[in-house]
Amino acid sequence: MKKRVAILISGRGSNMTALIEAAEAKDYPAEIVLVVSNRPDAAGLDSARSSGIPTAVIDHKKFGGDRLTFEQALDRELREYRIDLVCLAGFMRLLTPSFVNRWSGRMLNIHPSLLPQFKGLHTHRRALEAGVTRHGATVHFVVPEMDAGPIILQGSVAVHENDTEETLAARVLELEHQIYPRALRAVAQGRTKAR
Ligand code: GRF
Repeated sequence: MKKRVAILISGRGSNMTALIEAAEAKDYPAEIVLVVSNRPDAAGLDSARSSGIPTAVIDHKKFGGDRLTFEQALDRELREYRIDLVCLAGFMRLLTPSFVNRWSGRMLNIHPSLLPQFKGLHTHRRALEAGVTRHGATVHFVVPEMDAGPIILQGSVAVHENDTEETLAARVLELEHQIYPRALRAVAQGRTKAR
């Protein structure tokens, strides 16, 4: 049985698209059955719809900072679709420990750095400032502490001397699109567990 996956987005959704495309393969062990955005204007929603994937918007602004009720609405949606695994893909809301713990070992995130380096935002700028020679992306299980969960898969690229934040981001993004589907495959097959 294929694992039923929901992808949570807030914006462009290029990683979402990479996962949707990978999951179209017959032998892929997961199917994308739902895309949820916390922003009604997320561009990724249109891409999901044109791939025929059901979408839901749970607009955090409507909850006026009440994280618990926002997460209850999210959880309801995930339960309605009998979701087995959740993939965060550019989802820009912090989730409470109680939500994260409920999905422990079943929620993945992609982060644009070689964790534990450069947790948080502006990873490409910080990598250039730090002068690292390699940079990359990490798929990890989500734990309450941000960008700190067990690592499922990492990929790295060379940092070029003339790189700007944009050129480096583009090179890393291409890599993200390769490693996220591979990581989800491993988790869906039960080859990788959080502990
Ligand atoms: C990616 O760089 C991802 O690593 C980070 O947010 C960005 C999302 O891009 N978490 P996209 O929406 O998947 O195009």
